[in-house]
Amino acid sequence: MKEMLNVALPKGRLGEKVYKLFQTAGYDCPDILDPNTRKLIFENPDKGIRFFWVKPSDVSIYVERGAADLGVAGKDILMEFKPNVFELSDLKLGKCRLAVAAKKGFRDRHDYTLRVATKFPNVTTDYYSQKSRNVDIIKLNGSIELAPILGLSDVILDIVETGTTLLENNLEPIETVAQVSARLIANISSYQFKNKEINEIIEKINLLTEAK
Ligand code: PRP
Repeated sequence: MKEMLNVALPKGRLGEKVYKLFQTAGYDCPDILDPNTRKLIFENPDKGIRFFWVKPSDVSIYVERGAADLGVAGKDILMEFKPNVFELSDLKLGKCRLAVAAKKGFRDRHDYTLRVATKFPNVTTDYYSQKSRNVDIIKLNGSIELAPILGLSDVILDIVETGTTLLENNLEPIETVAQVSARLIANISSYQFKNKEINEIIEKINLLTEAK
């Protein structure tokens, strides 16, 4: 009997693409993409793999604490939470960027405290402290684009993928903070104790992603 590897996948659009990558690498799991199921855990004992669907921003918590051996998290989440995990591989999926955006025509005068609305307060602190800029961070949980429109903030620091949300709300990106993509992460002690199984997965997945 193979040692089971527990893998936390981010629920949603990205998670589906990530699962398909595992599937192509040979780690398939029956029923996992069945739209009619509300189950959260799926396993294929023959392949030694167990997947579970986790809220994307929680994946690194499961992996850091060892509830999952492996997980897939966006670089944005890793930059925000700085979990104590190994970052093993760039899956080159879910590509987007973290950017600062503002209302069209916004000019920053640099002589006042900039109000920044964001879901990423730590990334925002790091970014502006590098620039020695005083900021007032307004932590929101979604629909960040509303903040500058309603005068809640001067700018936002958020994910930009296609740019459609900014465009349709008369905002424009003014600075790129970081490029983002999905990363395969591992629990530090699992990487030691399940090293053979984990390296097997990484090799197969890297073969598929290196071609991209
Ligand atoms: C994300 C992000 C932007 C949008 C960017 O929001 O916060 O709002 O996607 O995508 P685009 O550049 O392709 O338009 P999400 O859909 O996660 O919803 P949220 O507002 O709840 O954060």
